[in-house]
Amino acid sequence: MKKILILPGDGIGQEVTNECLKVISYFQKDCEIEYTEDLFGGASIDVHGEPLTKEVLKKAMEADAVLLGAVGGPKWEQLEHNLKPEKGLLTLRKELEAFANLRPGKVFPALIDASSLKKSIVKGTDIFVVRELTGGIYFGEPRYIKEVDGKKVGANNLIYSEDEIARVARVAFEIARKRRNKVTSLDKANVLEVMQLWRDVVSEIHSNEFKDVELDHLYIDNAAMQVIKRPSTFDVILAGNLFGDIISDEVAELTGSLGMLPSASIGNKYGIYEPVHGSAPDIAGQNIANPIAAILSLGMLFKYSLQLDSIHDLIESAVSETLNAGFRTKDIGIKDTLTCSQMGDEILKNIDKLS
Ligand code: IPM
Ligand code: MN
Repeated sequence: MKKILILPGDGIGQEVTNECLKVISYFQKDCEIEYTEDLFGGASIDVHGEPLTKEVLKKAMEADAVLLGAVGGPKWEQLEHNLKPEKGLLTLRKELEAFANLRPGKVFPALIDASSLKKSIVKGTDIFVVRELTGGIYFGEPRYIKEVDGKKVGANNLIYSEDEIARVARVAFEIARKRRNKVTSLDKANVLEVMQLWRDVVSEIHSNEFKDVELDHLYIDNAAMQVIKRPSTFDVILAGNLFGDIISDEVAELTGSLGMLPSASIGNKYGIYEPVHGSAPDIAGQNIANPIAAILSLGMLFKYSLQLDSIHDLIESAVSETLNAGFRTKDIGIKDTLTCSQMGDEILKNIDKLS
């Protein structure tokens, strides 16, 4: 029996994971899977006073995969850093050693008009971001806001060891081999020593182990421009934690909406799956969120944690079909849009039809 832990979290997290539950329940007839739900993020703070309890972390470690909704919201923004909902997410990633965050950004042909860029530019875009997730400036020590000579000073540290760079680079190269065989690595080697190390290690792994893959390096500022100028020429983008966070939102917009982008965070053992979008407090509780990113994240869970590639492919095709048939949620459509749960139902119908 495979165990999935579902952590809906906050805001629209609950609504979008509900749609995933429909899909999981559907597949329970063919696969041995069971799931439990628990509190996470702000929802956990409200009940337990912390975003990730030891019990929930333990359950995550015992599960075969973790499916997340989203965390955060204005209600918890004033809390001290260590107690914020986001801290729960970062701790979960770190504790589960999910060092490679995979964020595929593919333009569904049916949605080509939903992007803010011209059709001719986004056409054919299929970018796979591999973001380092358990290091870099997100975790570097020391970190503080403190008073020095009566003035406040804040600091965070951008630190990478060569092993941390090498292991995520290998993931990017391996993925590229199964795609269009090209990796673009992002850094700021012209200014930051740590980023020079990033570039050197990526180049070294490339020449020692992945010579067959094409490798480019871009400075992050230039990359931010190139990604909107010539998106369809990118294949795999490899980046550190912060640059990867930023570039993946940019890639999301190419695909029409942040509501479309799924992600998988993997390491040597555990897998965490979550939509790239956040908790969207402005639309929470209205049943208008787009559940596609969450459903595609569940698809990735089937592939990367349960090795059920055929279910992953089926879910992707069902989403495509649903979009081709003209169904839209509010973020990607103009009139006659579906609610979150209606979109979930339409996708489920197509899953059933295609299976
Ligand atoms: C993401 C989010 C998170 C991050 C936040 C919520 C901590 O923006 O997954 O991209 O910065 O990693
Ligand atoms: Mn982000």
